[in-house]
Amino acid sequence: MKKKVSVIGAGNVGASLAQMIVQSGIADVVLFDIADGIPEGKALDLSEACPLWGSSSSIVGTNDYAHTADSDVIVITAGFPRKPGMSRDDLLNANAKVVSDVTENTSKASPNAVIIVVTNPMDVMAQVSFKVSGFDPSRVMGMGGILDSARFRTFVAWELNVSPEDVEALVLGGHGDLMVPMPRFTTIKGVSITELISKERIDALVERTRHGGAEIVALLKTGSAYYAPAAATYQMVKAILFDEKRMLPCAAYLNGEYGATGIYTGLPVMLGSGGVEKIVELNLNEQEKTDFEKSVSAVKSLVEKLSL
Ligand code: APR
Repeated sequence: MKKKVSVIGAGNVGASLAQMIVQSGIADVVLFDIADGIPEGKALDLSEACPLWGSSSSIVGTNDYAHTADSDVIVITAGFPRKPGMSRDDLLNANAKVVSDVTENTSKASPNAVIIVVTNPMDVMAQVSFKVSGFDPSRVMGMGGILDSARFRTFVAWELNVSPEDVEALVLGGHGDLMVPMPRFTTIKGVSITELISKERIDALVERTRHGGAEIVALLKTGSAYYAPAAATYQMVKAILFDEKRMLPCAAYLNGEYGATGIYTGLPVMLGSGGVEKIVELNLNEQEKTDFEKSVSAVKSLVEKLSL
């Protein structure tokens, strides 16, 4: 039997992710949304593409949570995206309500699932989902670091005129303007970019990465990025379904690691069928520690604004 992934929110990110999963044939998909007809229409369209892709995955579009029952993975993309001039944090209260409602319904229907939260402000929404689901924190995580790292990889690849595939990058901390791109841990075939790019240029690439989402919002004007967010989430879904033990930056619940407790933030983790199977602790230098702590404090202050 195929694995089952429920994608909650059939908007830009959710539908793009559903397409990636169905096109690659790695799982069956349930695409859920509250909007009438949208999930059904998109699922039907994707079903009709399957013969052309040579895929035997099935996809069902629905407004009924019963269809999500017994999912292996639940991806939450439901909520509101940013408009120009908005930060991810401006979405806090509206999206907390959506994520809380979605988590309550999906976690009841799939008590053994792993939940991946994409909705912004993502670190806080992961915390909401963790609380509402009552799941072990290893089974609730957020997507942010892979996307931020992919943006950093892209900009580094353009700078050095190398393939983005050969750039490894790491971005820690909250998925917000205070995220912490880590040049020391960003390498081309093992060589740190600190040896290949001037400090001024690295600073510029870090700044562009921090505002990578806003750059796209300003261009699109009616919504936020979705191809790269969907691709980043796809990587997480695949790592969990196939127990790949990938080392990827994801938002995970800290329980003393990196000196913080009871909060979600972006860290390198090992992803497998159990979800976050391990949090990898890196030796941060003083500047990296300060930047990381600032980023975690920003997530904490947002969490405090919610009555969880
Ligand atoms: N239950 C289910 N679906 C909902 C709910 C809800 N309570 N509230 C809203 N939705 C659905 C909307 O109907 C819409 O189809 O969520 C979908 C969101 O899609 P888009 O508006 O296209 O937003 P998208 O670009 O996909 O971004 C979704 O991911 O990256 C983040 O910041 C982004 O928080 C945003 C989320």
